[in-house]
Order: sequence, then C-alpha cells, then structure tokens
Amino acid sequence: MNNFTFYSPTEFVFGKDTEKKTGELVKKYHGTKTLIVYGGGSVIRSGLLQRVKAMLDEAGIAYVELGGIQPNPTDPKVYEGIELGRREQVDFLLPIGGGSVIDTAKAIAAGIPYEGDFWDFYIGHAVPQKALRLGVVLTIPAAGSEGSGNSVITKLDGLKKLSLRTPELLRPAFAVMNPELTYTLPAWQTACGITDMMAHIMERYFTNTEDTEVPDRMCEGTLKAIIHEATRVMKEPSGYGARANLMWAGMVAHNGTCGVGCEEDWSSHFLEHEISALYNVSHGAGLAVIFPAWLTYMADHHAKKVAQYAARVWDVPERDDLKAMSLEGIGRLKDFLHSIGMPVTFKELGIPNPDIDLLVKKFHENKGERVGNYFPLDSKASREIYEIANQ
Ligand code: NZQ
Ligand code: ZN
Repeated sequence: MNNFTFYSPTEFVFGKDTEKKTGELVKKYHGTKTLIVYGGGSVIRSGLLQRVKAMLDEAGIAYVELGGIQPNPTDPKVYEGIELGRREQVDFLLPIGGGSVIDTAKAIAAGIPYEGDFWDFYIGHAVPQKALRLGVVLTIPAAGSEGSGNSVITKLDGLKKLSLRTPELLRPAFAVMNPELTYTLPAWQTACGITDMMAHIMERYFTNTEDTEVPDRMCEGTLKAIIHEATRVMKEPSGYGARANLMWAGMVAHNGTCGVGCEEDWSSHFLEHEISALYNVSHGAGLAVIFPAWLTYMADHHAKKVAQYAARVWDVPERDDLKAMSLEGIGRLKDFLHSIGMPVTFKELGIPNPDIDLLVKKFHENKGERVGNYFPLDSKASREIYEIANQ
C-alpha cells in the first residue's frame, strides 16, 4: 500500500423520508440563502422539489432556483448559476438530482467567489481556494458526486469534457440519500448508474500497487454486492432493499474508500468522456462499451489483475492461462451488462460509425500522450481499444 490521506467529511443522512431533514441540514451548515439546482424536470414531476422547498420554508431559509441542467452538463448553465448566485447573494448551494446537477452546483460553488473564469479550474490554470458550501439531495445512484470532491463539466466550445478534482473543498457538507426517491428512475438510467458505480470501483482496482489486500477485497465485495442487487432491482424496481444497497454502493464506489493506498487508473473513464462529449450518450452506457474493450486489451498486455478480477468477481476457475481466464471473465461481464439492458459495442450504443480518429485525437489532446497507470495508453493503444469497442 502507498502512503495516503483519506478525508471524507460529508454527513450522510440515509433512509426513508430523509429529505424532510433538508431544511435543518442547510441551517446546520450555516446556509441562510441557498441556490437550488435541478435537472430537466424529474424532481418537479415527483413532487420532490416542492417538498424540499417546504422544508426550507419551515427552517426559514431563503432560496432561488436554477433548473434545466442537462445530462453531461455544459458550461452555459454554470455561468448562469454564478451570475444568479452573485446577484442574489446566496451563501449555499443545494443540488437536487444526480451527478450532472451536483457537478454543476460544485462548479458554481467554486466559481462564485473566484474573480476569473471558472473554467480555469478545469483546464488546470488555477486551483480553487474557496467555494460556497453545498448540500445534496440525491435522486440517482451513479456518479458518486454526493461523496466526492469532483466535478465534470463539458465546455461547449470544442466539446471538452474535463474534470476538476478537489480532495476537500468541494465535498458536500451533507448528502440526503432516500432510496425511495430512486423508484421513479427508468430502467435505462438505473442500469447506467449501476455500470458507472462498477466502473468507479474498477478504476481503483486495476492498480500495480502491491499489498492491497484490503482495498482489493473491498472492491471485489462491493462489485459482487452490486451485481447481486442489480439483478434484483431489474426484476423489482420498487424494492426498497435493492434500491438502498445500490444507493449506498454508488457512494462507497467513489468517495475514495475503495482505492486507499492504491495508484488508480482512470483511463477507461477518460476514454469514455470523449464519447459522451462528442455523442452526448449517457456516461454509464459509454462505460459499458469502453470497459470490456479496455479489459480485452489488457488481457493481451497486462492480464495479471484482470485474471484475479475474473476469478474473484466472476467466479472463473483459476488456471495458469491468465489470458483465457481474463477473457472468460470479460465474457461474463458483457453477459451481465446485456442482462441489465446495457450496450457493449458502439453499434449497440447507437453509434454505428464512430469517428475513432477524432476520439483518439481529443483523448490525447485533453489527457496527455500516455494516459492511465495500470498500463499507460499511447495513441496506438487507445485506438486499439476504441476499435475493439467497435467490433
Ligand atoms: O434531469 P432530470 O429530469 O432530473 O432527469 C435525470 C437525467 O435525465 C434522470 N433522473 C435522475 N434522478 C431521477 C431521474 N429520473 C427519474 N427519477 C429520478 N429519481 O436521470 C438522468 C441522468 O441524470 P444525471 O445527473 O446525468 O446522471 P448521473 O448521476 O449518472 O450523472 C452523470 C454525469 O456525472 C458525470 C458524468 O460524466 C456525467 O456528466 N460524472 C461525475 C463524477 C463525479 N462528479 O465525481 C464521476 C463520474 O465518473 C462521472 O464522470
Ligand atoms: Zn463515472
């Protein structure tokens, strides 16, 4: 294990009816006027927005609203939120939704006190020194933004989808997590979320760091739990037990717990971000296409941990031929993804002719010549992975 600092100060308030605590939680973290951020309308249709506003009224907290955040959120809404937040002198951000809404709120929270362009943070020209606090009401377990200090935004000019990672500053002060709020999720979004949380674990699991027994077993155990609960939730979308386990798994997958002491990889995520930036597909569905392709490439070039993953997560019998073991595990992963309705090729994702030249070009422009740590990808490797995904 490598040296590490693990700091995860978010207060998680989990369970039925917990959204009723939102007003008192904002107050507890010294919010007096909050900017509510939400998406394309699911929180209006479910009545959640109204219920949360009633809780804020009860706690005597003023609010203004910014709705209409789209999946794969883009910069114009961030600028709009920064302007609105400054004009209204808000001191707290309250995203109600999933990763797109939370990430937009984080960008606004860092952008309001900053004199320059918030995009400076995403291109590495500046490091945020302060930010407004935020609290989250989560409606979809997927991106794990409720427990992470990260935010991913796409700049429309050039379709650059980039992430900002702050170990401390942008971690939410609190996250309200009521699994019942996820009953309204369409099966597709549920499956995208499941795939994304599995990918967050795998990005940490595929490491060359030695002596990682505890993080390895946490990753493997959580992956097995997700696979089990995924099958249950697809059969019974309003089953509380499966929804609750998945909601917590989405947080555990991405708040850092699973990767402590490990050098993480993240190249599959970066390969995917180019796809969702260019074709505006769901991030989780893009990962369902890219991760099996990345694993297939690794079965040929660095099979060690892939074979371990196949044995321990997918119950593939152990043998000397690590590549064969790996390929069998990847086959089981693909069968699982299909079983929950996910695509595993570009064609199944609805992109029959992906522009692989452009994807490779943007991937290395945005992320560097060699990307990832498990087996760093040069342009020949990234092209091959996109091509495997296109078979
Ligand atoms: O916009 P509304 O109408 O709310 O509908 C949303 C949206 O269409 C819908 N939805 C959410 N909760 C619902 C619901 N529909 C019915 N009932 C509910 N309870 O689901 C759709 C997807 O929402 P979105 O917020 O986009 O999903 P997700 O949480 O998967 O976030 C994806 C974004 O997060 C980024 C992704 O790249 C993508 O932009 N990521 C952020 C990360 C982070 N901050 O740490 C890490 C991830 O790897 C990821 O890159
Ligand atoms: Zn992700």
